[in-house]
Amino acid sequence: MKNKVYDSGRVEKKPASEYISSRFGSERMQQIDIIERNAVQKMVGMLPQDFAVVDIPCGSGRLLPEFAKAKSVYAFDINASMLAEAQKNNPGEQYKFQVASAAEIPLPDGAVDGLVCMRLLHHVADKKELEDIISELSRVTKGYALITFYRKNILKILWRKITGKRVRGNPKKIDDMELLCQKAGLSLIESIKVPKTQQTMFLLKKNS
Ligand SMILES: C[S@@+](CC[C@H](N)C(=O)[O-])C[C@H]1O[C@@H](n2cnc3c(N)ncnc32)[C@H](O)[C@@H]1O
Repeated sequence: MKNKVYDSGRVEKKPASEYISSRFGSERMQQIDIIERNAVQKMVGMLPQDFAVVDIPCGSGRLLPEFAKAKSVYAFDINASMLAEAQKNNPGEQYKFQVASAAEIPLPDGAVDGLVCMRLLHHVADKKELEDIISELSRVTKGYALITFYRKNILKILWRKITGKRVRGNPKKIDDMELLCQKAGLSLIESIKVPKTQQTMFLLKKNS
């Protein structure tokens, strides 16, 4: 059965060509960029030679150069202008671009050795959508997956509410996320907290 088509309007407000420079322009965000790239490289190091990977959402292609040695890189995003920018910046033959939702990835089961889903799940508020996305990620990989989300820091959320500040994204409890991944057939190898942020990365392995 097909997953529901979600339309939560998560479209980047800035032009696609400005996403990387505006989001990762500050010194702090450049450090976070390095931490995220290192995590991608850690996963890449676990993959076989001539590996195939998915990057969803690939956005404007920030992480695609990390897969320069891959045989096939499937780069998906729901925003066609982000995808066009990603394609312009990554002309290598191994890169294949297609508009697609993370809840419905146009690939067969176990199509790739590894998969990256970076900076999407903190946008997802709907529990069923989150479940659909995690199970879709698990379906498509036969090896590893690297996902990110915002972890719930109750004190920080309370403090932001008290001080009238906006609570960012849709944070999730680490244990709930681990359980969700486990139910979808993905076991947690490592949980990586990005210092001084809510950003958390899960390096996961598909259960055999
Ligand atoms: C914050 S960007 C992250 C891009 C990239 N992963 C990175 O870390 O640089 C979020 C991207 O998610 C895309 N997006 C939002 N919802 C999506 C969905 N359900 N499926 C696929 N892409 C989605 C947006 O179009 C946007 O390009």
